[in-house]
Amino acid sequence: MSKLDILTLPDPVLREVSTPFERIDDDVRRLMDDMLETMYDAPGVGLAAIQVGVPKRLLVVDVADEEEGSRPFFMANPEIVRLGDTLRVHEEGCLSIPGVHVEIERPSDIVVRYIDRNGKQQELAADGLLATAIQHEVDHLDGRLIIDFLSRLKRDMVIRKFKKQARAD
Ligand code: NI
Repeated sequence: MSKLDILTLPDPVLREVSTPFERIDDDVRRLMDDMLETMYDAPGVGLAAIQVGVPKRLLVVDVADEEEGSRPFFMANPEIVRLGDTLRVHEEGCLSIPGVHVEIERPSDIVVRYIDRNGKQQELAADGLLATAIQHEVDHLDGRLIIDFLSRLKRDMVIRKFKKQARAD
């Protein structure tokens, strides 16, 4: 396994819409493993392939706490097929926008359909942090970022800050 570089704002690749997989082969499994290692190393609870520069519909999430150990999910072509009625507010961060946190209200429980590491179709009912993380990562696959939940003024401020930082590097 190898660690991958995580793209950060204002990299325009983060705005690309990712495309679905036709099949899950060893190359895809290698990417899944590398993404998981990259996410654990960061550390984070979720990572989308586009964040490592691969515009494919793939995400990894693991919201298990230390006591639970690791419980990773690999989701290719994820599709949220049901959104619950109850909403949950969570302060979300993003490995592509370090240091920025945004309070976001999303459905607290969802059902997601996806293809797993073995190429098998799965359906998972998720709630709490897992539901939040999956929705956050699925947003990435459509080029949507947490700053899009901010007012235009605040969003522009964040983007300006990251552009300035990128020029300074
Ligand atoms: Ni993110």
